[in-house]
Amino acid sequence: MSTKKTSPAAAQAKPLTAPDIQAMKGGDKICCMTAYDYPSALISDQAGVDVVLVGDSLAMVVLGMEDTLSVTMDQMVHHTLAASRGVKRALLVGDMPFMSYATVDLALKNGGRLMAEGRAKAVKLEGGLPVVPQIEALTAAGVPVMAHVGLTPQHVAKFGGFKAQGKSADAARALIEDAQAVEAAGAFAVVLEAIPVEVAALITDALTIPTIGIGAGNVTDGQVLVYHDVLGLFDRFTPKFVRRFAELGEASREAIETYCAEVRRTTFPGDKNTFYMPEGEVAQVRKIKVKTKKK
Ligand code: KIV
Repeated sequence: MSTKKTSPAAAQAKPLTAPDIQAMKGGDKICCMTAYDYPSALISDQAGVDVVLVGDSLAMVVLGMEDTLSVTMDQMVHHTLAASRGVKRALLVGDMPFMSYATVDLALKNGGRLMAEGRAKAVKLEGGLPVVPQIEALTAAGVPVMAHVGLTPQHVAKFGGFKAQGKSADAARALIEDAQAVEAAGAFAVVLEAIPVEVAALITDALTIPTIGIGAGNVTDGQVLVYHDVLGLFDRFTPKFVRRFAELGEASREAIETYCAEVRRTTFPGDKNTFYMPEGEVAQVRKIKVKTKKK
């Protein structure tokens, strides 16, 4: 397997920590990508992303589920551990799935699992003021927390769909309070999802921790996108805030069509893909009497 094309950032393989990411506030933009297994984490890390997030979007883009609500803690641990094997430099963040942090005790138990079993170096959870006790307990226990406010997909039922948030002055005020609350609780960064750029700018200015935007305009301290969206591998829909930087779904389909065509034409496998016996053995092997069932 080729590991030739490594970006300059990834080549200096000093692993990034949560404090390193926090210290990037206001400096170089923080580049974050989701990844869910060894190859996607390896490719993202080699490309030089700063944060690899094993998002619970796993449910939709990898497991084909309708939303993120049904992915389990065991599945998140399994995929986080797989991704950890591909990451050398980026900070690996494991996402806490729906209801896995409904209480402080659950948050400690499951955040601990993502770190100890999944080898994550930080966790992410969704929500503002209501999850302050969970963020405080996790950070006190040595688990760095990335918070997530705005369109929090685990609240899709409450929102009535995947809808942008914070569009009225009142909603914007509540979002700013949420962001300030997670910072005060000890979060080292906060994801702002699907909110107006004006609100993202206010929050980014108000906080001392980095904001990582997805659908929050270009004013945040960093950006995050879903691997399958960036590469054109997700078939169901493309949110407004996504840019597809490649069409690997189409390229993969074409490659597999070519493979099938070559198998059917018997042009694959070719000579280069075939093992041959040493010359002296060929005559011997032809003498072997093989019982055949043919009549
Ligand atoms: O689950 C996920 O992929 C996420 C990111 C989009 C922030 O939460």
